[in-house]
Amino acid sequence: MSTLKQQIETLKKEKNAIILAHYYTLPEVQEVADFVGDSLGLARKAAETDADIILFAGVHFMAETAKILNPTKKVLVPDMSAGCSLADSCKAEKLAEYKAKHPGYKVLSYVNCSAAVKALSDLIVTSGNALKLVNQLLQDEKIIFVPDGNLGDYINRMTGREMILWDGACCVHDHYEVEQLEKMKAEHPNAIVVAHPECRREMLEKVDFIGSTAAMLNFISENDAREFIVVTESGILYEMQRRNPDKVFHTLYEGAPEHDCINMKKNNLENIYQALCDEAPELIMDEELRQKALVPIQRMLDLS
Ligand code: 13P
Ligand code: SF4
Repeated sequence: MSTLKQQIETLKKEKNAIILAHYYTLPEVQEVADFVGDSLGLARKAAETDADIILFAGVHFMAETAKILNPTKKVLVPDMSAGCSLADSCKAEKLAEYKAKHPGYKVLSYVNCSAAVKALSDLIVTSGNALKLVNQLLQDEKIIFVPDGNLGDYINRMTGREMILWDGACCVHDHYEVEQLEKMKAEHPNAIVVAHPECRREMLEKVDFIGSTAAMLNFISENDAREFIVVTESGILYEMQRRNPDKVFHTLYEGAPEHDCINMKKNNLENIYQALCDEAPELIMDEELRQKALVPIQRMLDLS
């Protein structure tokens, strides 16, 4: 184990700290994490931990969710600039205006949004529970879905709903090209293709399985095929390969870090170590905002 990893382990014990990391982070970050998961798994873990400090290696909205669920705990974010294009695409002021123009509509928000947007929402979903939760809503419920237009379109098609969709997109998944998938399929004709629902509809129509990061991992472990094309951020390959050492994985753009999520990659051993030493940067949240944002998150956790 590298010295930095050892020092992180020592600090975690000394300070009763836990590291939660998303599957898209760097392999060495996933190695020092106590729990690695998708957004739903990370929210659940954040809700149940008894650590005094939660260091969140992911992006800002995920750390906010941890703080919303754990007001008395210190939530550390190694790099406060680690944002998310989806969360950025839906500003709370714009959503408030939109809501006012659509009386009678419920706001269903993908977890990739700010605490201020959550506070305006009736229910939060993740890519891991969206279909299940939307199917539980009344058929004639009028819904505005924010911020991911691609995920919303996928939910509409799968559930037969006609939710109004916000025009937001993930700057990583929305840029994946169908032509590149066709090229990869021609090069690997026996490969099974899995994709994240943040991809565009024309991409999702060409794949064998659609699901959250955790759902893709489970699908691959349970599938007998030996080769997979993975249409999501490349960081997930670390866990896929770890769980399935005898299977072969290709990302859509092999060896091209420009197609990765730059924000997830802002977490590294150096800034994790430093954050644990300094107990900073700490995520601070206004208590009134936190209480409002908690309501739709808690609803999601209770229903899923
Ligand atoms: P998951 O909840 O599937 O891990 O997705 C989070 C995310 O940001 C995907 O881009
Ligand atoms: Fe946000 Fe996309 Fe990065 Fe996920 S991959 S955190 S949706 S920018």
